[in-house]
Amino acid sequence: NLTVGLVGWRGMVGSVLIQRMREENDFAGITPVFFSTSNAGGAAPSFDGISPSPLQDAHDIAALAACDAIITCQGGDYTQAVHQPLRDSGWTGYWIDAASTLRMEHDSIIILDPVNRSVIDSALAEGKKDFIGGNCTVSLMLMAIGELFNKGWVEWVSAMTYQAASGSGANNMRELINGMGVLYDAVKDKLADPASAILEIDKKIAATQRSADFPQQYFGVPLAGSLIPYIDSQLENKQSREEWKGGVETNKILGNNAENNIAIDGMCVRVGAMRCHAQGLTIKLKKDIPLEEIEAALRNSGNQWLDVVEDDKEATMKRLTPVAVTGTLTVALGRLRKLNMGGEYLGAFTVGDQLLWGAAEPLRRMLNIIRE
Ligand code: HSE
Repeated sequence: NLTVGLVGWRGMVGSVLIQRMREENDFAGITPVFFSTSNAGGAAPSFDGISPSPLQDAHDIAALAACDAIITCQGGDYTQAVHQPLRDSGWTGYWIDAASTLRMEHDSIIILDPVNRSVIDSALAEGKKDFIGGNCTVSLMLMAIGELFNKGWVEWVSAMTYQAASGSGANNMRELINGMGVLYDAVKDKLADPASAILEIDKKIAATQRSADFPQQYFGVPLAGSLIPYIDSQLENKQSREEWKGGVETNKILGNNAENNIAIDGMCVRVGAMRCHAQGLTIKLKKDIPLEEIEAALRNSGNQWLDVVEDDKEATMKRLTPVAVTGTLTVALGRLRKLNMGGEYLGAFTVGDQLLWGAAEPLRRMLNIIRE
């Protein structure tokens, strides 16, 4: 019976994790220990037959070290503060983490088992203990087109993203909706009047978005009715950190090295979706593989979460949108067609929930792999 420490379970990703663990009955057969950074001694949650216990202090190294495995959604600062001291104390348990802090460390494995189970299994056999969830955009891209990499068909990928507010956090989701409300309120009288001039409405909307009191505390600029073509920090090479992750994390997940590294780059853009990231992909194939063969490979890949949407307007509009996918484990992949650049250029569009496959799901699955 594994003792599993849970840290950051109250936040957005943590809440989705707990919800998924309950849905899949993951709490049966583990002894959960709930930690808190702010309320040690308070009451831990009690459900599914778990008896109530006091919350443990998430900075208490000895209490953490009493766990066989720790799952944290507490964020990068917490990982930075606690992981090394915990290892230095001699702890050899499994550290399963949603934050990016340790992802690119030599001893860390980025976990996305439907795509890289063999990488995970080799790491476990080697005695590796740090298992880190990938960047949401990367994980969702690989859940969609991982099979094309596995087949060895991909020369490079350009990913142009449409990323949801949730990727920035709960406050950002609230800010997006507040912005939408402010916009509506600014023009609702005119909207109700069918005779009003649309350019008057538009002018009022632009003035409202540009006013100093428009909600923008968390994003820094208005998102509602706009977009932000920059995500995370600016790197010296002019990539955004999110764009950089696309290349380095994808290759690490696939177990590639300097010799077989695949170039992945693009522009990462924040849009006014709630929790589904979408990506427009240009995939340069190593050779002109027929579209039917590509679609068959994707459909037969054994990825039960992948919805390969036929490239048809109605199917696309029904199944390949954030509204269709949100809150589900389905990763939709469509608009699969050869681009005018030539037979080696495959276009694709994918949508996935960034809190599920993009964050919580690989963590709970890793716990179950350890328990196998
Ligand atoms: N960095 C991602 C985003 C979320 O901002 O959308 C976390 O992987």
